[in-house]
Amino acid sequence: MNNATRRAVIAGIGSYVPEKVLTNQDLERMIDTSDEWIVSRTGIRERHILEDNLTTSDMAVEAATRALRHAGCPASKVDLVLLATVTGDYVFPSTACIVQEKMGLTNAGAFDIGSSCSGFIAALSTGAAFVQSGNFQNVLVIGADAISRMVDCKDRNVCVIFGDGAAAVLLQAGHSDRGILSTYIKSDGAGCRHLYQPAGGAKLPPSLDTITNRLHYIKMDGRETFKQAARAMTSAAFEALKSAGLEVSDVDLMVPHQANIRIIQAAVQRMGLSMDQVAVNIDRYGNTVAASIGLALDESQQNGRIEAGDHVLLVGFGAGLTWGGIVLRWGV
Ligand code: UT7
Repeated sequence: MNNATRRAVIAGIGSYVPEKVLTNQDLERMIDTSDEWIVSRTGIRERHILEDNLTTSDMAVEAATRALRHAGCPASKVDLVLLATVTGDYVFPSTACIVQEKMGLTNAGAFDIGSSCSGFIAALSTGAAFVQSGNFQNVLVIGADAISRMVDCKDRNVCVIFGDGAAAVLLQAGHSDRGILSTYIKSDGAGCRHLYQPAGGAKLPPSLDTITNRLHYIKMDGRETFKQAARAMTSAAFEALKSAGLEVSDVDLMVPHQANIRIIQAAVQRMGLSMDQVAVNIDRYGNTVAASIGLALDESQQNGRIEAGDHVLLVGFGAGLTWGGIVLRWGV
């Protein structure tokens, strides 16, 4: 195949959320909050929480198995596993290797990408580049996070917004007008302390002191993150569209990272789109970090909101700070 016309297409997609549901009413009984506050400030009504006996790789395997089944691709044909996560089973090795072993993907290479809430964009962009270059034929891209494990249940600023989940796509090479048309990735490390997990890494290894001071939990400056998010997501959307040679008016569906309904509304307004052109499921899942865009994309294709030939705009934003966008034409 001529690499100049070679493009990465989404040949299969799947997602998974844990069975256990935590509602706003449950949270009302746990902390000083209210359903009214959470719904009006975030748009979230409930989220799914991973059972104690399961871990991130288990969710990733479920989503990836569904994506391979959807594509009709046997495990032996997968060349590469890219797992976007900030809540891997271990600090190392890559959880992608654990997924590889659990799924019997014996012919694949595997590594993690730690780009938090924009991880799905980073992993999908990386996978697309590998496919387009001709290095790999079948790349499994997964976004999975058990973020509830890093959430301080005493921090009402944080614990109401996050939920657990996973989503996966299988990328294959195509040579039609379908597939990934453009990718855009940007970051600003100056914002790294707006959203981070202070302890557990090399800078602040686990100790009695870090545990006593609850430093293994997520710390977030919600207001600052909020302010940056709408601006960055809008910029990512415009950059990705520009590089695909498309306009906002060409977008059939926007699938944004689901962090806060007000962030999505602000970005959509700045872009001149309307909310009925946007996939929203934050009410049922909250912010599932690296899973959120894939989860919303999978739901959209399952409920018939995306048809072959549609232009789909994926937009993410997260810790780092990081942001990015992808434009694709749906279908194989
Ligand atoms: O995934 C990508 C990265 N993450 C994000 O994009 C998250 C971005 N930030 C947000 O979504 C919002 O900032 C939050 C949902 C986290 C907070 O909403 P906010 O409207 O920005 O609230 P705030 O931080 O300005 O706080 C307003 C008030 C405060 O009370 P006082 O000081 O005005 O008395 C908070 O203590 O709301 C209070 N508050 C709560 N009240 C009830 C904060 N959290 C809660 C809560 N329930 N859960």
